[in-house]
Amino acid sequence: MSSAPSARDPRITEVLRGLNSRPHALNPKWFYDAWGSHLFEEITRQPEYYLTDCELNILRMHAEAISKWMGPGVVLAELGAGNGEKATRLISALKSPRCYVPIDISSQSLQSAVDSIRQFKPGIEVNPLCLDFGEGFLWPDGLPVGPRCLVFMGSTIGNMEPADAVLWLSGLGAHLNRTDKMLIGVDLKKDEKILNAAYNDAQHVTAAFNLNALAHLNRALGANFNLALFHHESFYNPTYGRVQMHLVAMADDIIRMGGQELSILANESIHTENSYKYDIKDFQTLTEAAGFRVDAVWVDSRHWFGLFGLVTSGDSRDD
Ligand code: AVJ
Repeated sequence: MSSAPSARDPRITEVLRGLNSRPHALNPKWFYDAWGSHLFEEITRQPEYYLTDCELNILRMHAEAISKWMGPGVVLAELGAGNGEKATRLISALKSPRCYVPIDISSQSLQSAVDSIRQFKPGIEVNPLCLDFGEGFLWPDGLPVGPRCLVFMGSTIGNMEPADAVLWLSGLGAHLNRTDKMLIGVDLKKDEKILNAAYNDAQHVTAAFNLNALAHLNRALGANFNLALFHHESFYNPTYGRVQMHLVAMADDIIRMGGQELSILANESIHTENSYKYDIKDFQTLTEAAGFRVDAVWVDSRHWFGLFGLVTSGDSRDD
């Protein structure tokens, strides 16, 4: 049992800041409680949601090259490890990876990542970190020696505003050594129909995933959203090159949270997610602005998804 968090809980302050702005907005990290992480896994199994399949295919198709690029005995840290499925595929593609550091905001996800890797590769050292990687990342102490690679798959970087992605990547880069590498999965621009279908699956799993963000606020922050009043909407916005997800209010709702009240009126929406899509060149420009250099790009046969191998451009530090 958890009692209602106080009005000064920084999470409530942050959530209310977003919900009180126009248009109303909520950080997509609120999708991911235990149920939301489960729903996301369901999304990845929907036929319309091509992203996961594409990325796993790239890993399989280019296993040899990726493994060679990382080097033997690699120490991997994965931002947003989820259930560890991507890591299992990645690790099976690599030659003698030495250590795996899964990082996730959801402790349940992290536990399943740890379990599945330990089962899959008993010899590898696993060192989990439960944290919000949006706040940055430092290699933990005491890791085995070996080439290091920071992995950020699934196109999660698409949730950030491009300018924020540059800042966030530069922040990471500031703590990396010259020899550290980074592998980032990025969803590429493509026919809008494919994008719209991927975020509006026929089984309405994405809709349930979107709505669960409000259920999560109700459970974790003692809010009282009436879920029946909101419906899922998502569409590709070509002006920004992003898929937007919204929860549209069908009637007025008055929400209380941390002793405060806010109202969301009929037809207003809460903007819950942007999922930016990039061209290879655009993403290259973005990473260069953040002080990285694209050392390799692996794509699937349809060019729907890219795995970018980044190295630091080498002018930042020399230890
Ligand atoms: C996990 C952030 C990559 O943006 O495609 C899936 C989340 N949102 N369906 C994405 C998501 C709607 C997903 N990422």
